[in-house]
Amino acid sequence: MCGIIGILGREPVAPQMVDALKRLEYRGYDSAGVATLEGGHLTRCRAEGKLKNLEQKVAASPLRGRVGIGHTRWATHGRPNEVNAHPHAAGPVAVVHNGIIENFNELRTELEGAGAHFSTETDTEVVAQLVCALMATGLGPVDAVKAALPRLRGAFALGFLFEGEEDLLIGARRGSPLAIGHGEGEMYLGSDAIALAPFTSSISYLEDGDMVVLTRAGAKVFDETGAPVARPVMQSSASAFLVDKGNYRHFMAKEIHEQPEVVGHTLGHYVSFAAERIALPDLPFDFRDLERVTISACGTAYYAGLVGKYWFERLAKLPVEVEIASELRYGDAPFAPGNLALFVSQSGETADTLATLRHAKAHGQHTVAIVNVTTSTIAREADAVMPTLAGPEIGVASTKAFTCQLVVLACLAIAAGRARGNLTEEDEQRLVRALIEVPRHMTAALALEPAVEKLARDIAKNRDVLYLGRGTSYPLALEGALKLKEISYIHAEGYAAGELKHGPIALIDETMPVIVIAPHDRVFEKTVSNMQEVAARGGRIILVTDPQGAAEATVDSLATLTLPHMPATVTPMVYALPVQMLAYHAAVIMGTDVDQPRNLAKSVTVE
Ligand code: G6P
Repeated sequence: MCGIIGILGREPVAPQMVDALKRLEYRGYDSAGVATLEGGHLTRCRAEGKLKNLEQKVAASPLRGRVGIGHTRWATHGRPNEVNAHPHAAGPVAVVHNGIIENFNELRTELEGAGAHFSTETDTEVVAQLVCALMATGLGPVDAVKAALPRLRGAFALGFLFEGEEDLLIGARRGSPLAIGHGEGEMYLGSDAIALAPFTSSISYLEDGDMVVLTRAGAKVFDETGAPVARPVMQSSASAFLVDKGNYRHFMAKEIHEQPEVVGHTLGHYVSFAAERIALPDLPFDFRDLERVTISACGTAYYAGLVGKYWFERLAKLPVEVEIASELRYGDAPFAPGNLALFVSQSGETADTLATLRHAKAHGQHTVAIVNVTTSTIAREADAVMPTLAGPEIGVASTKAFTCQLVVLACLAIAAGRARGNLTEEDEQRLVRALIEVPRHMTAALALEPAVEKLARDIAKNRDVLYLGRGTSYPLALEGALKLKEISYIHAEGYAAGELKHGPIALIDETMPVIVIAPHDRVFEKTVSNMQEVAARGGRIILVTDPQGAAEATVDSLATLTLPHMPATVTPMVYALPVQMLAYHAAVIMGTDVDQPRNLAKSVTVE
């Protein structure tokens, strides 16, 4: 989940590398560095902390090399300081790395035994030391990397630069993504097409196990057996412009406010507005043949999957298993062949989700990816892709991708319900009408922002916050707690309201805010009973509901946020907005780095 850039250019490449790293900062931002060749010699410039620290250093002492590699880091092995920042170097080799070298300890012991001196705590340095040791035996750079790769265990992407080699960069990929950019007499290596967008739109993607040798004349790719292979050059649509914040203070605020629009776009892709029908692309399976659906994802995307389960089970009478990807991949869940497995991911690169996709494929599942980045590995490897049209999501905490994922899941569940004879055409039209109104309800939800901001002032004073919900509001309670934790660092828990009495009720006292997500749906009264239990113990309730819920809730609440009335099926999409805004404003009040919260990364390409 670090970002890699490599450039073989005609002019000094350091400014271009810093520019590319800005576009990769979503992958990690605890340190950054670049290496170039100055008169044939390796020169590195690295800085702890945000990229702007590196930018200042590079501006103060410009690097002149026309070939270079750069990196933005999310620390796995070794503290996030300058010494551990990439590129790492040993003798004539510099390397940047995304992923984890699992057998680094074993290799380090072996290399130290042979006289190598390590200067960092990282797993990456073993790669530089290993290639350096192999070159010391007389191998050239390409052969040394070829010999080193089979010795590395784990998932990784690597970029290499060599002393004295002004026209050479080497890349390798196993698990983590790596793309090649083809320019005019210039070549590029990057973690994704977005990083390369200012330089070229001609992109090829390395496949797992590939190694690439880049010179200014072009790219030679070898597969894991060492055989030369061709990887198609595609035209990327990634924008060359860095997405900006517009009039907003943070990307997250902008992305929250974009939701009526992007949810509208996503709906437009899966719904016929005129006929009020679902209009899915062709899928390589028949819903009638399915006995079970497995949904696998991580983080916020996992919570979208949990909402999806309620919809599939209610609308299509189709049993759904929702599994956290890091659990599913190492579990023993039996898969009956011919069923459907859905993978939900904003980035399409999350290592655990990708691993479950491969696992499910190996177990004979039809695989469908619900992803925001359609050029991603998950999108490319799934049998079918259902894009979310959220546009680039920059804030680390996912917002608009989540609601767009919900739209796609809802459309799929309705289509499944129709195909399986559980919904009539009128049911479908009624549900589609409800979906079409979601952007309008979202606009009304955004209008609650001043009230939410006021509540956030109170929330920001607390160390712990509890979120409760039932039915589809339960995953939203989980998502609300996750959002608050991620960006404000306030401890929060999401609970199924009915579970309150089995533990978390012990936490409730006069200081504990309890956010209850309760549209007036078929479980509303049950949730009200749970609110009574909170109120009886002095807990301070913030109720998120609709006009009927507000009128019928017989409990004193600290505050009520009243959203428009809407059909129960679509409440998760709209109720997500006050939940997101509350976390956002609490974080702003706490003064945290909202878009790049500590220790997190947007795209998690390590397990
Ligand atoms: C990280 C991000 C989360 C995201 C999760 C899954 O933890 O910080 O916002 O939900 O990864 O990412 P994906 O790209 O697979 O949706």
